[in-house]
Amino acid sequence: MTDPEALIDAARRAAAHAHAPYSRFAVGAALLLTDGSIVTGTNFENASYGLSLCAETVATATANASGRLGDIVAVGIVGGRMGETDLDPIRPCGRCRQVLNEAAQIGGRDLAVHCSGLGGGTIETHRLSDLLPHAFGPADLGIGGHA
Ligand code: THU
Repeated sequence: MTDPEALIDAARRAAAHAHAPYSRFAVGAALLLTDGSIVTGTNFENASYGLSLCAETVATATANASGRLGDIVAVGIVGGRMGETDLDPIRPCGRCRQVLNEAAQIGGRDLAVHCSGLGGGTIETHRLSDLLPHAFGPADLGIGGHA
């Protein structure tokens, strides 16, 4: 089982590739899969600002592209201002909580969500079910397992 530190390290390495020239706020996400492998993503902004994608959403869609949507067990997220050493943890935005919930319910498990700052600092750990209580998801439509 990959420890939270390794997952956060992977997220931090991914954040170095964030495409965020507009907000100058880099986010990296790393997803731990059942076989111990890690899938990463970064925020991916666009000159048409509203088209921008969050790191957690990019990582989740990337896991899905390998047929691994239901195999996600934990998430590591870091974020902070580019060129700074922000130590405060960031937590996933509301939309990303909903996207992660799709994976959680398809996989039939709750997810551990580890959060940290771009520049380091402590790792704060949550359950996705605490970050998004009473979630609506595929289970409500009779699809997938039940997280
Ligand atoms: N962002 C993420 O990638 N994930 C989140 O959970 C919160 C926000 C990105 C979106 C945008 O590119 C930048 O952070 C500033 O909002």
